[in-house]
Amino acid sequence: MSDKYRVVLAKEDFSPDECELIKQLAGFDENAPDQKAELDRCLYDYLVFQNNYVFASKKIRTDLEILELDYRVKYEHRILKSIDGRIKSVKSICGKLEKKNLPLTLANASAVLSDIAGIRVICHYMRDIYEIKERLLAQDNVSLIKMADYIQNPKPSGYRSLHLIVSTSVHLANQNLEVPVEIQLRTVAMDSWAGLEHVLKYKNPNGVSDEISEQLSDCADVISDTDAKMQEIYRSLFGRHSE
Ligand code: GTP
Ligand code: MG
Repeated sequence: MSDKYRVVLAKEDFSPDECELIKQLAGFDENAPDQKAELDRCLYDYLVFQNNYVFASKKIRTDLEILELDYRVKYEHRILKSIDGRIKSVKSICGKLEKKNLPLTLANASAVLSDIAGIRVICHYMRDIYEIKERLLAQDNVSLIKMADYIQNPKPSGYRSLHLIVSTSVHLANQNLEVPVEIQLRTVAMDSWAGLEHVLKYKNPNGVSDEISEQLSDCADVISDTDAKMQEIYRSLFGRHSE
């Protein structure tokens, strides 16, 4: 996930390929008398749709940055190492709707996709992941929709991370909206495994043998043991500010 999210202020920012998909999502009317105006209407609708997720990401990201700064000042502790994010591309949105056998519409996208806005938080220690979760969910403007704890319950692949789907309110020019954001929290070690496995297996169109899958899962177990040991070393040297 590179830091790709940006506020799109102009319809001209969309590529020709994206425009074709946006026409489908926004229900382009082939019989509209003014085809150029109809295309503009579709691009505008998509622009407004996408920016809601950009705005929600910015709010959550700011909350996380404030936490990071305050922990540094009050406890001299780096509660998180980095924050990364992305907004799901038009192509991925359409791909996921197709996978779910749903018509390509903006209404379907906002109703069933909870990871259009995605934020990834990388921590040094496992305990920090849960502390960030607690602090974030204690905020008035953030409510939990769904949590998947793949640290306590790793995926069969060996994948570990804490996934939160939260909802945050975005105050717009003409209305207030609740917008979902997916937050993935993981340690540096978990992130390095996930990054490699993503290419080697998760997104590998050819698949991999059971033996390779097992080896990858073994690597994840070793990494998890190391995380636990590093956590213990940290605790023995510095204790915890909250203890
Ligand atoms: P997606 O359609 O990929 O978004 O999955 P999902 O909506 O069923 O949700 P899930 O919680 O399974 O996964 C969400 C995200 O977690 C994925 O997009 C990946 O970024 C990450 N992820 C989940 N499982 C794995 C895995 O086995 N390996 C790796 N590398 N990443 C994973
Ligand atoms: Mg996803």
